[in-house]
Amino acid sequence: MLGFSVADAQPIPHLEKRGKATQLIVDGRPFLILAGELTNSASSSMEYMAPYWPKLAAANMNTVLAAVTWELVEPEPGKFDFALVDGAIREARRNHLRLIFLWFGSWKNGESTYTPLWVKKNQKQYPLYLAENGQSITYLSVFKEANWKADANAFAALMRHIREVDGAAHTVIMMQVENEVGCPGGWRDQVPEAKAAFNAPVPGQLMDYMARNKEKLVSEFRQYWQAAGGKTSGTWAEVFGDQPMTNEIFMAWYYARYVDQVAQAGKAEYPLPMFINVDLGEAIGQYSSGGALPIQLNVWQQGAPGIDIVAPDIYLPDFAAWCERYDRSGNPLWIPETRGDAANAFYAIGNHAAMGISPFGIERQADAGTPLAEAYGLLAQAAPQILEAQASGTIKAVTLNAEHATETVQLGNYSLAFSIARMRQPAPAPASSYAIIMSTGPDDYVILGSGVQATFNGPGPSAAAVATLEEGTYVDGRWVPGRRLNGDDIMLNYDAPNQAIKNESGQGIRLAGGPPKALHLQLYRYQ
Ligand code: DGJ
Repeated sequence: MLGFSVADAQPIPHLEKRGKATQLIVDGRPFLILAGELTNSASSSMEYMAPYWPKLAAANMNTVLAAVTWELVEPEPGKFDFALVDGAIREARRNHLRLIFLWFGSWKNGESTYTPLWVKKNQKQYPLYLAENGQSITYLSVFKEANWKADANAFAALMRHIREVDGAAHTVIMMQVENEVGCPGGWRDQVPEAKAAFNAPVPGQLMDYMARNKEKLVSEFRQYWQAAGGKTSGTWAEVFGDQPMTNEIFMAWYYARYVDQVAQAGKAEYPLPMFINVDLGEAIGQYSSGGALPIQLNVWQQGAPGIDIVAPDIYLPDFAAWCERYDRSGNPLWIPETRGDAANAFYAIGNHAAMGISPFGIERQADAGTPLAEAYGLLAQAAPQILEAQASGTIKAVTLNAEHATETVQLGNYSLAFSIARMRQPAPAPASSYAIIMSTGPDDYVILGSGVQATFNGPGPSAAAVATLEEGTYVDGRWVPGRRLNGDDIMLNYDAPNQAIKNESGQGIRLAGGPPKALHLQLYRYQ
């Protein structure tokens, strides 16, 4: 038995549109996912994982992403073994953690290395992708019904099992279906079914959607289509042009259809929210093509309605731009893989109402006292306020660095001019500068962050000054003030006459580098 008994009246974890944000609801309340993803093989051994569960909890995580692999779940056709799933659920509960399982089924980073041996060895029944040169590669072909049926059958059994052991306790809150699917850049599968599909008309499910929603399509997809003539019927090459990107769109559609069948089979057993993760790159050949790259967002949304979120794995530079590209077309932002960077966590959650974030390889870096643990600690404390502010659209975030050293945020009735914190005593520049800003009333803000300072301007000609400023913490959702800040701690500049020329008071807030802190600020205007 798994250690829970009381029947729980709460609905299962689900997504809900609350005001301006789509949020994950767990046990009746919005949930901010402060997570980390284990390395690929970690969850295949309970012994290996044993020392890490308490460390993950001590690092202020509330959720762990862990692989569940087809090869270990279904070692023989139709014979299922869920011991590792049960073990992970038991340990997560013991450590007050939630789980998101990653279904490594037909594909993991394009490869089919996690399929059971009985699939790998029987290529006649479970055929592989055929490359242009006539060679198979170790990727299951998307175009073979036996492949998706076998995968869907196993995934359905997994979801049925999760419902049976966790349908009341809700330790498992979401599922990732497959992992970074896609095939070698710019090519397409050459199995006979794929060739026939490529020479057939673009399916109506996609074509009609495009024709009806031209203006709503992501711009790069619309432009690509229109550059090829914007036709509303025809084969793939006729509608999109005979180019490598057309192969990608074609593969994206059929990957989406396949993954959708797997997801829908699982949802029929237990409809947890489901997402796919995406391997990113800027140019063909740098990523697994057919995955849900930004240009393919609408193709995936139409092809896989059983997938609730298209989630980018953001390892590339320009974190902000990637967030922007996936915060479109009604897709809620959720980042299942990235680096363990506190500033990025604040940015995605504050500027894009992200449902959460999850650095990869977490068991190797999770510990109390790391910058990520400190950031998660503060985000966890303030989560109820953050989630409400996401819903009401009263939240923003800044990340500053040498190339982007200042930013002015318009929020509520004031504009707040952020820059990298300069401390009164000679002190090194903060290693990282970031903040979440929430407008909590007409003259009222909560600012969470590290290594930043900010001055304010009221609307029109009136200058703004600090009415009250206090440090504090959230305890059980309530603000508990600490030091009341004034004097040197609010005066960024004592040269009032020269500040007045800029319509500023010289007053402001400052958050030192190091562990992020929370401030509650009230302003007033004077003329
Ligand atoms: C992306 C994959 O999705 C993960 O499973 C893992 O292999 C990482 N890359 C490794 O950096």
